[in-house]
Amino acid sequence: MTTEIEIKRGLQGVYIDKTQSSFIDGSAGKLLYRGYSIHDLAEKSTFEETVYLLLYEKLPNQKELNDFDALLRANRSIPPEVMQIIKLVKNAHPMDVLRTAVSALAAYDPDVADNSLEATLRKGIRMTAQAPIIVTAHARIKDGKEPLDPNPNLNQAANFLYMLFGKEPTPAEARIMEKDFILHAEHGINASAFAARVAASTISDLHSAIVSGIGTLKGPAHGGAAEEVMQMALDIGEEDNAEQYTRDILERGGRIMGFGHRVYKVEDPRAQHLQVECQTLGEQKGQPKWFRILSKVAEVMEPYASRGICPNVDFWAGSMYHLMGIPKEIFISIFAMGRIPGWTVQVMEQYSDNILLRPLLVYEGPMDVEYVPIDQRK
Ligand code: ACO
Repeated sequence: MTTEIEIKRGLQGVYIDKTQSSFIDGSAGKLLYRGYSIHDLAEKSTFEETVYLLLYEKLPNQKELNDFDALLRANRSIPPEVMQIIKLVKNAHPMDVLRTAVSALAAYDPDVADNSLEATLRKGIRMTAQAPIIVTAHARIKDGKEPLDPNPNLNQAANFLYMLFGKEPTPAEARIMEKDFILHAEHGINASAFAARVAASTISDLHSAIVSGIGTLKGPAHGGAAEEVMQMALDIGEEDNAEQYTRDILERGGRIMGFGHRVYKVEDPRAQHLQVECQTLGEQKGQPKWFRILSKVAEVMEPYASRGICPNVDFWAGSMYHLMGIPKEIFISIFAMGRIPGWTVQVMEQYSDNILLRPLLVYEGPMDVEYVPIDQRK
C-alpha cells in the first residue's frame, strides 16, 4: 500500500495556498513584494514604507506614511515585567531571549486573544516596534549595561543602532541597516513563515505564530546562516587561507554556509545589495579583508552554480553586520526583527481563508504488537 503513496519529503515543490504578499521566481532570481521589485524597494523605499506596503497592500501617501511611522514610534516600549524576564534569561542565546520575550509580551497585549484581522494588524505593528527594544535591551544587559530608552527622533533602523550602541548612527549606517530590514521583511512560505501559518491555522494567536516563526528561523539551515558565515570568515582569518578552507569543507562533504536555497537556483536577488554594502563598508572602515575572504569563498563555489547552489541573502549579511560592530550572536535576531511584518502578513492571509495545515506521514513501524505487562517483560 505504501508504494502507491507519493511522499513529498520536505514539502519540496508543494504549493499549499495562494498569496498576494510576495512573488518569488527561484530560477530567474526574482522577488517582488506586492508586485514591487525588491531592487526598487531596497534602493528607493524606507523600512516603514515597505512595512506599510506589506501590511496595507499599497504604498502609502505622505500622510499615511507619517501616521504609520508615528504609530511604530509610539509602540516602542515593552512592559517592565518583560524587561525583568529578559534580565532573568540574559545568558541564553539572543534568539532564545527574543522568543521568550515575545511569548511573554502576549501576557500584556490587550488584543492577545482577538484574532480578527484588525487586532492581528495592531499586534503585528506592536511586535514590529517592540522586537528591536527586546534585542537591544538584551544585548546591553548581557554586557552589564542599562537598556536605553528609544530615541523618538529616529526611524526604526537608526533607532535600533542607537539603542544597541548608545550613540546615533551615521546616516549611511542607518541606511544600510534599513536596507537590510527591507530585504528581510517578507519571503513567502519559507520555513519560519510556514511554522507561523501552521500555528495560525489552528486559530491560535499572532504571538504564538511569531514565537513559532522565531524558533524556526533560528536554525542554521534558515536564518542562522549569517552567524555561521561570519564564524567561517573569522576562522579563515586571511584571504590566502580562503581557497583551501573552502575546498577542505567541500571535500569532507560539508556545506558552505550562505550558499544554496530551497527556491533560488540562481543568486538570491537580495544578496547583491548586501554584497555591495559589505564591500563599500569594508573599504570605508579600512577592513576590506572580510569582503575579500568571502569573495574568494564565492569564487571557489562558482562551479556549484551549475547545480543551483549560489549565494543566498545570508552570505554577505554577516560580515556587513560585523563591520558595523554588531556582535554575531544577534545576527539572526536582526533577521527576525525585519521579518515580523512578513510573518504578520502570512498569518493574516491564513486567517482570511483558513484551513487547518495538517499533512500526513506514512507509518513504517511495527503493527498490532502484543502489549506485555511490565512484570512479564525481559
Ligand atoms: N554547500 C555545499 N553543498 C550544498 C550546499 C552548500 N551550502 N547547499 C546544498 N548543497 C548540496 C547538498 O549537499 C546536496 O547535494 P547532494 O545532492 O549531492 O546530496 C544538494 O546541494 C541539495 O541540497 P539539499 O539540502 O537537499 O537542498 P535544500 O533545498 O533542502 O537545502 C539549504 C537548502 C538548507 C538552504 C541548503 O542549501 C543549505 O544547507 N545551505 C547552507 C545553509 C544556509 O545558507 N542557509 C540559509 C538559507 S537562506 C535563508 O533561509 C534565509
